[in-house]
Amino acid sequence: MPITYLDNAASSWPKPPEVKLAMAEVIEDYAANPGRGGHTLAMRAGKVLFQTRAQLSRLFGITNPNDLFFYMNATQALNQAIKGFLQPGDHVVTSFIEHNSVRRPLEYLRRTKGVQISYVQPREDQLFYTADFVKEIRPSTKLIVVSHASNVTGVILPIEEIGSEAGKRNISFLVDASQTAGVVPIDVEKMGIDMLAFPGHKGLYGPQGTGGLYVRNTIDLEPLIHGGTGSQSESVDQPVARPDRYESGTVNTVGLAGLLAGVTFVLEKGTEQIFQHEWKLAKRTMDGLKEISGVEIYGPDIDVERVGVVSFNIKGVDATEVSFILDQEYGIATRSGYHCSPLGHQAVGTEKRGAIRASFGMFNTEEDAQKLIQAIEEISAAYAAGEA
Ligand code: ALA
Repeated sequence: MPITYLDNAASSWPKPPEVKLAMAEVIEDYAANPGRGGHTLAMRAGKVLFQTRAQLSRLFGITNPNDLFFYMNATQALNQAIKGFLQPGDHVVTSFIEHNSVRRPLEYLRRTKGVQISYVQPREDQLFYTADFVKEIRPSTKLIVVSHASNVTGVILPIEEIGSEAGKRNISFLVDASQTAGVVPIDVEKMGIDMLAFPGHKGLYGPQGTGGLYVRNTIDLEPLIHGGTGSQSESVDQPVARPDRYESGTVNTVGLAGLLAGVTFVLEKGTEQIFQHEWKLAKRTMDGLKEISGVEIYGPDIDVERVGVVSFNIKGVDATEVSFILDQEYGIATRSGYHCSPLGHQAVGTEKRGAIRASFGMFNTEEDAQKLIQAIEEISAAYAAGEA
């Protein structure tokens, strides 16, 4: 049975063919250690890192590529940003739909360092308003951290406005771009973003085990990991120079070569076009699902632009069971449950049952959306008739 892959919010698939080729080329031709030697192959490996940093900087409007550090995923990047920045007694404002990769480090710091946290709720329409973030700001507020878009409802937050309000008050602004990097245009300068965490394996079409963090050069984070950097080896202290200060240990050159190919693919397509494609498929899906009796769709009004994420349930039917049937009987890959975002589910009232989530990527088509709608129609009818 051919696979219809609708789980791009967890990890994009398939990847552009250039990604595999670039990774194979490293393994076959030059998998030496970048930055740890002056020989030809080490230099070639180093060049890939340089090019990847440069392409990502182009995509995100970053002036100095050395302000961008590589990590294994957005979670590691967020941990470095949050734990390397906040001090005992600091106050942080965040949103009520954060993924556990933001919520857990924050709650850990609340327990261990007395960091204070304010969670901003979406309004009745499931949208977020800048004024609600501003209202939570106190004299001790040092950081605002928000997801650019929810991995549950797909809602897009008013990043540029929040960034501007944070900037006016000298509060640092951290954005989790897990669902938007490569999908929604991002410009760290225009949007007032001081730190940007992103995965390489979702909208940037790189392999798993890649991701990164941009940190404005006026912010000095405490490094979470110390060790070899291939520079200033005679010193017992972590180097001050970026990116070495935040990149101890051998990086994932193979993966980053793949990420370079992925980002290049994104730059060629253009994020505006990618967003329009994914939004069109999400909208098409919601338009179809809303006609099926008993189907509930979560998030903002279906005419409001969102990233390519559609979460829904068939009333009275277990989400995991539906996802299982979609996979086994229709070859459609979705993700059910809580999507590591219990708050996101609480916001839409699915904290006790979770939801089925379909998420689209650049390689999905209208036929994929239609196939899902048809399958849900059949599954729903079977349950209604007591046949399933
Ligand atoms: N955070 C990823 C998701 O939403 C893994 O599925």
